Amino acid sequence: MKRSEKVRRRRPNFVTVVLIVTAALQLLLLPVWVSLFGEIARTFAPTLTFGTLFHALPYLLPLPLALYLGWRIQLGMWDEKKPALVVALVDFPAYIHFSASLLAGILVVAGTPIVFLLRLTHVVDARAWSLYFIGAYAFSLALALYGTLVRRPWFVVEEKDVAVEGWPAALDGLRIAQLSDLHIGSLTSKSLVDRWVEASNSAKADLIVLTGDYVTSGTVFHQEIADIIARLHAPLGVALVMGNHDYFGGGEPLLTLLRKSGARVLQNESEIYEKNGASFLLAGVDDTWTKRANMTAALERQDPSRPTILLAHDPDLFPLAAEAGVAFTLSGHTHGGQIAAPFLARRFSLANISHHFVVGYYRAKKSVLYVHPGLGTTGPPVRFGVAPAIAIHRMRAAR
Ligand SMILES: [Fe+2]
Repeated sequence: MKRSEKVRRRRPNFVTVVLIVTAALQLLLLPVWVSLFGEIARTFAPTLTFGTLFHALPYLLPLPLALYLGWRIQLGMWDEKKPALVVALVDFPAYIHFSASLLAGILVVAGTPIVFLLRLTHVVDARAWSLYFIGAYAFSLALALYGTLVRRPWFVVEEKDVAVEGWPAALDGLRIAQLSDLHIGSLTSKSLVDRWVEASNSAKADLIVLTGDYVTSGTVFHQEIADIIARLHAPLGVALVMGNHDYFGGGEPLLTLLRKSGARVLQNESEIYEKNGASFLLAGVDDTWTKRANMTAALERQDPSRPTILLAHDPDLFPLAAEAGVAFTLSGHTHGGQIAAPFLARRFSLANISHHFVVGYYRAKKSVLYVHPGLGTTGPPVRFGVAPAIAIHRMRAAR
């Protein structure tokens, strides 16, 4: 099967919508380029010999910009290995401009009536138009640069107590390190991966778990993913479940490599873990998007004598898990929206549009859910308002 066929078969409507939005945004930014070229002409007018051509240039920009971004988005649907220089000089600039366009487009639409009113009431002069449009794009570009180059690789290690009813006193203080949504691909640098591995191992957790989405798109990074997971070490080992992205393009080769890496792959199954003479059941449910999830099979070995911890990439399974008496569910998938209002990510993020459980801890009945904010990114490689993290859950017996 050709790559283009695979791309077409996978979420064709989604890709079409993204391409249409991208093209529309580039048209919407036309006032920015007209203003920018106008200000340059105003400043350097005496030296300009091709004045008419110069003033025509901004009108020619939206089409090549839309084609450039559209081409990059199509490539992103089936990720491949490429030289670091191409990633730095072609891919990242495209995504940074794409992210800036999203915000600048909103600012252009929202600010135009305000500038219009100020002009009407003679509060500002005619130049306010160009200064506003240029300022809107400059502000958006600064945020996009920060979110892509600074905030995306800047992850935190967060350790919190998780009080669970029925948790054995002998296992009080057991620490579980959770990684999620690594989305390894051409935009993930080796140094960032090294820092994830180093931080995970340095946390010296009893158990390391991963809750899916190791892949961004395509299949060529499977070996890199297995190598990363093979480098993670904990006394009780490494256990994981698959996410939706891991099955895009076929997940079987990845599953084989993950098993070879030494990790315990939980596909609608479970394993009993013992320490200090006490035990808990670690269950893992498969992907919901590709309809592989089977909670009944995953929880088949549940036993009232020991608490159950469930790994489920999709946090939407939490109500089912709570109903089934699972003590603690660990999820990922949402990235906490990836872009959120700082400090208010649970309420105001892109994930709130389509997800009930967005990021952090939730409780229902006697059950606890944790939605991991993810380490990697999908779509534009940008983070804002919700930090990538390695989560350490310190298990406590609830009183
Ligand atoms: Fe996911």
